[in-house]
Amino acid sequence: MIRSDAPVLLEVRDLRASVDDQPILHGVNLTIRAGEIHAVMGRNGSGKSTLSKVLAGHPAYTVTGGSVTYRGQDLLELEPEQRARIGLFLGFQYPVEIPGVSNLEFLRVATNARRQERGETELDTFAFEDLVNTRLAVVQMDPAFLERSVNEGFSGGEKKRNEILQMALLEPVVAILDETDSGLDIDALRIVAGGVNQLASPDNATLLITHYQRLLDLITPDHVHVMAAGRILRSGGPELAHELERIGYDWVDQELALTEVG
Ligand SMILES: Nc1ncnc2c1ncn2[C@@H]1O[C@H](COP(=O)(O)OP(=O)(O)OP(=O)(O)O)[C@@H](O)[C@H]1O
Ligand SMILES: [Mg+2]
Repeated sequence: MIRSDAPVLLEVRDLRASVDDQPILHGVNLTIRAGEIHAVMGRNGSGKSTLSKVLAGHPAYTVTGGSVTYRGQDLLELEPEQRARIGLFLGFQYPVEIPGVSNLEFLRVATNARRQERGETELDTFAFEDLVNTRLAVVQMDPAFLERSVNEGFSGGEKKRNEILQMALLEPVVAILDETDSGLDIDALRIVAGGVNQLASPDNATLLITHYQRLLDLITPDHVHVMAAGRILRSGGPELAHELERIGYDWVDQELALTEVG
């Protein structure tokens, strides 16, 4: 349920960003409150992943204007690691492989960094294994994946599931999932969606970047946004996603022609 008086967790104002001196984001506005699920849709190349990476603090992107406030704090002045520690999570569209780093150890270090930030005790190897086993159940993942290097040789769907496992351990305040549904088989999609729903609470928020209604059939968004040419061109409720399924994105060109993109 949406409470319009719920605290704002993430406030994006007129955000502009470039990569390699190429402007990509042209003034993004987005307000995310506690308890909300948002979906961002839009054509290939419209800037969705760029937005997620700028929010996470990816060093390849330069913010050229605007502001991002996370729970009242200036997010843009923080290092990516610090953003993660205070509860911002990004599930990558293309999760990276980290050969030579055990998945279990990686998850333990990340989880402990987050716990430390919240004033909780650090978990030793044994305590962490207990925790990770409860979280593996959320994504119905085989414990064998813990023994392997992070994402190395994981199938596309296994990488996406591993992202949700990370999320289940880190218990983020704002989770951004960039096309976590792409490449998942039908059963895995249900499992991942179930995991996201299970982790959603009145105190956190989720931003789903997706191309498909099939994900939103399983995770009902409170707000749906359409990105185009580096801005949010239209926002609405769940019905907007259904409408996109019917009419596609042809209307975007007309609307962009009417609004000057600066
Ligand atoms: N280094 C770069 N130099 C020039 N253009 C870039 C660079 N990196 C990204 N872009 C461009 O930025 C635009 C936005 O890319 P982005 O990945 O954010 O799109 P997207 O909305 O996530 O698309 P998709 O739905 O395909 O994932 C694209 O046109 C892309 O080619
Ligand atoms: Mg993308």
